Amino acid sequence: MTNSAIPSGVDSLQNDRYLRMLRGQSVDRTPLWVMRQAGRYLPEYRATRAVAGDFMSLCRNAELACEVTLQPLARYDLDAAILFSDILTIPDAMGLGLSFNAGEGPVFSKPLQSEADIDNLPILDPTAELQYVMNAVSTIRKALNGRVPLIGFSGSPWTLATYMVEGGSSKQFAKVKKLAYQSPVAMQKLMDNLSENVFVYLKAQVEAGAQALMIFDTWGGVLTPAQYQKISLDAMEKIVSRLKRDSVTANIPVTLFSKGVGEKQLVQLADLGNEAIGVDWTHALSDVRAATGDKVVLQGNLDPCVLYAQPEAIRQSVKAVLKSYGEHKATGGHIFNLGHGIHPDIPPEKVSVLVEAVKEFSSQYVC
Ligand code: CP3
Repeated sequence: MTNSAIPSGVDSLQNDRYLRMLRGQSVDRTPLWVMRQAGRYLPEYRATRAVAGDFMSLCRNAELACEVTLQPLARYDLDAAILFSDILTIPDAMGLGLSFNAGEGPVFSKPLQSEADIDNLPILDPTAELQYVMNAVSTIRKALNGRVPLIGFSGSPWTLATYMVEGGSSKQFAKVKKLAYQSPVAMQKLMDNLSENVFVYLKAQVEAGAQALMIFDTWGGVLTPAQYQKISLDAMEKIVSRLKRDSVTANIPVTLFSKGVGEKQLVQLADLGNEAIGVDWTHALSDVRAATGDKVVLQGNLDPCVLYAQPEAIRQSVKAVLKSYGEHKATGGHIFNLGHGIHPDIPPEKVSVLVEAVKEFSSQYVC
């Protein structure tokens, strides 16, 4: 399925606030979406997941993946939809044997254990093993019918590597860091393979209908500054430069999100040819804005745990994030989001408080 298969005109965007901000155009208020906006905090998500059976079956079923993507939009006035899927679809398609066990997070039955395992990794054909993702993208894009733009995404090569080498989630990242220190050549091969795979995967999502892209570098912050640059940043730079040189993806805005990195690393991340960076809650947007000099749009960065607070405290915290970014100029800009994904035990009403507060307080800051 390509963009041309989507009836033109049928979905000229009704709400293009998110894309306008990324393109440096004027907006009436700060655009807003919520990381993990479709997920377990919503009872209707839990009901659809029960119908699917388990999380990966939900991702593999285009109709149900579409249903859960649209659920948060039915409740809240959000400015973007994000593909319902996972970053671990790529290693799953490579045959690493992904499963999600209750309470344990993701587990790979065949993690990468040797240099030979890395040498044998394929370059995937996204219209084969990952066709179910592309079907979800095109189904969601059609169902949105131009209501809001659709964000496609991938994990960063480094973040994917952490799961592929550790065999799942990790606290110390000892195995994957051991690989980086003991076998830098093998580590580089792994980054090169994943950079290629992520590029073709993201391009295929755009061909299927994604209108913006985001790369999640969730574990960029566990690297030393030198390794961050050499391993994670370098791989993301290769992907962005391929995306920007390819006629299919050249005009698609790209957001890069490295969680847990310092301000110097965010400055580097803002310099790869991407339109936006994600900022976690450990930074003040004012500091990141001063450091990046309005070069890119900043996305973030309300602490997800603020949503445990009382409504008035949430409103004040939203105000503080908007104020921290401050008044927009012709370049740069702010897209409101959490600093990381919403927690599964947040009452859905708290998200309404957040959304209404962004709408109420942000128009004074934009241009
Ligand atoms: O933002 C969205 O609404 C889009 C959907 C989305 C999911 N995962 C759905 C999901 C996105 C963008 C992701 C990305 C993802 N997946 C990341 C990067 C972003 C981040 O949060 O840092 C990472 C590291 C993963 C890997 C992953 N997937 C983990 C560690 C887990 C288990 C987490 C947990 O809370 O149990 C998942 C599963 C997952 N991905 C769920 C959802 C809604 C929960 C699955 C369920 O039980 O229904």
